[in-house]
Amino acid sequence: MRKPIIAGNWKMHKTSSETREFIQELLNNFTGLDDVEVVVCPPFTSLEGASTLLKGSNIKLGAQNVHYEKSGAFTGEIAPDMLKDLGVDYCIIGHSERRQYFGETDETVNKKVKAVLEVGIIPIMCVGETLSERENGETESVCKRQVVEGLKGLTAEEIKKVVIAYEPVWAIGTGKSATKEDADETIGFIRKVIEEIAGKEVADAIRIQYGGSVKPENITSYMEMPQIDGALVGGASLQVKSFLEIAKF
Ligand code: G3P
Repeated sequence: MRKPIIAGNWKMHKTSSETREFIQELLNNFTGLDDVEVVVCPPFTSLEGASTLLKGSNIKLGAQNVHYEKSGAFTGEIAPDMLKDLGVDYCIIGHSERRQYFGETDETVNKKVKAVLEVGIIPIMCVGETLSERENGETESVCKRQVVEGLKGLTAEEIKKVVIAYEPVWAIGTGKSATKEDADETIGFIRKVIEEIAGKEVADAIRIQYGGSVKPENITSYMEMPQIDGALVGGASLQVKSFLEIAKF
């Protein structure tokens, strides 16, 4: 059985004090969610404050990015063990916004996935096609390439730990979510790709989320699909009420 995982990607939202307020309110209202893993991913500047408040709770903490080098002259970058030291459990890697605006490639995604696994942080590796790729019938080939290249060189045991987020780029922040059938089909395809590279046991165990305009109104329909193991939520994770409604699907 795969434990569902609902993660909130705050993107570039909330100051450190706004984060503390949010987390406090979340903790005050968070009860009885033992069957779901809940993760909040605030900006770097809010991680320490969030980590302090979340200590002892069963809400996990995630970062939104990382650099793959251990240390050195990389101005403005954050190393994996800096995140680990703050109590970070998860790290989003290869989000389409990073691929689109910050030059992230399959190769850097792969390096980052390896680097965080090395310090015991679980990568949430994002994949997904753009609108034009979808219209050209390239959804599967794009997802396959991103999965294969992103996981290159990892052992089956390492791959099993990774969380994959399937986020069709055209569904992000647009209010235009994928149908549950489409999302389930592509996630099922991604699971087959995992089977090809790491075997059936790993494919059955790996968790694959859907992301793209997930809201309290549509989460239940995704979660009833057999291949979908959770959601990576953007906009609707910024309010405690909607985030909790989603986590309680
Ligand atoms: O990583 C989450 C994401 O990109 C989806 O954003 O706002 O469409 O839920 P949103």
